[in-house]
Amino acid sequence: MGYHPRRLRQQEAFRNVLRETRLAPDQLVMPLFVRPGKRVRVQIPSMPGQFQLSPDQVVSECEELQALGVPAVLLFGTAAGKDERATQAYAKDGIVQQAVRAIKARTPKLAVITDVCLCAYTSHGHCGLLKSRPAAKSKSPKPHTPSAAPTLDVNIDEPASLELLAKVALSHAQAGADMVAPSDMLDGRVAAIRRALDRDGWTHLPLMSYAAKFASSFYAPFRDAVDSHPMMGDRRSYQLDPANAEEALREIAADIDEGADIVMVKPALAYLDVLARAKERFGFPLAAFNVSGEYAMIKAAGIRGWLPEKPAWLEVLLAIRRAGADLIITYWAKEAAKVLRER
Ligand code: PBG
Ligand code: ZN
Repeated sequence: MGYHPRRLRQQEAFRNVLRETRLAPDQLVMPLFVRPGKRVRVQIPSMPGQFQLSPDQVVSECEELQALGVPAVLLFGTAAGKDERATQAYAKDGIVQQAVRAIKARTPKLAVITDVCLCAYTSHGHCGLLKSRPAAKSKSPKPHTPSAAPTLDVNIDEPASLELLAKVALSHAQAGADMVAPSDMLDGRVAAIRRALDRDGWTHLPLMSYAAKFASSFYAPFRDAVDSHPMMGDRRSYQLDPANAEEALREIAADIDEGADIVMVKPALAYLDVLARAKERFGFPLAAFNVSGEYAMIKAAGIRGWLPEKPAWLEVLLAIRRAGADLIITYWAKEAAKVLRER
C-alpha cells in the first residue's frame, strides 16, 4: 500500500526503462578554437584538455568527432591582427573562413556552425564597434550585479556594428558554414543578418541566436582562449543582467520574431530556470551553452581529486537536458560522446 518508489529503483533494468531524460552524442555540439598556423595545438591554460588548433588540426579533430557521432561543431577564431573595425572577422581568408572550407572539404556531413561576433577581432575586445565619443563613467553600478567595481560604460555604434555582423555572417556562409550563430547581444542583429543572408541568396541557411546571453563571470576562460577580454569597461551594456529572467524571455521572443531558427540560453548551469521557462513558453528549438567557466570548474576540481570529473559533467549535461535544452553546446562533447557510446 502507498507509494514505494524504491520498488522501481532496486533493479538496473527498471531504472533504465523509466529514465525520463535521455542524453546522446547527437544532442551535443563541440566548440572548437581555430588559430592560424600549421600543426599547432596550444592548450588553453584555464581550460585543460581544450586547445587552440590550426586549421589542419581542426580538421583531424572534426574527423574524430564525426566518428564518435557528434553531429556539429561551433567554431571560434583567434585573430592574428586585431583592429578597431574587426577587419579579420569578415576577411575572405580569415581564420574561421579558412577552417570552414577545410572542414567541409574533408568531413562534409559534419555540420559547421560559426560564432558570429566581433570581440575576438576588435582591438578593444568589445562585441560591437565603439563610437568615438568618450564613454561616461558610471559611479555606482546597479545592485545585484556580479561585479561591484565601478565601470566605464561603453558606447556601441549599433548601426555600424549590425552592418559588420551581417558581413561576417555572409562571409561564413560563403565559406560553406551550415549555420551562423550571432553572439553579440546587440538589438536587431538577427533581423539584420537574416536580411543580408536572404538578399545574397542564402535563404535556406539556418541561424542560431545567442538569444538569452547573460553578462557572466563564467566566460573568463573563453576570453583567455580567444583573447577577447574587453580592454576597458565590461559587457553589461549589451549582455543580460543575471537578475533578469523576464527580460531574457523577451529577448528570446524578439529573436524568434526576427527569424532565429534556434534560440540559445547561455550560460546553462546558473540559468536552468530560464531554459525551463523558455522551453515551456515558446516550444521552440532550444540550445544551451555549457560555457568555458562551467567546464573549468569541474576540470579544476577533478584534477585536484575534489570531485569525480566524469559523473559530475554527466550529471550537469543531464540537468541541462532535463531543464529543456534540445541541444547542448559543451566542451565535454567529445568525451561525452565516447562515454555515451560505450553504454
Ligand atoms: C562573445 C562570446 C562569449 C562566449 C562565446 N562568444 C562570451 C563573452 O566574451 O562575452 C562564451 C563562451 C564560453 O564561455 O564558453 N561573443
Ligand atoms: Zn562577442
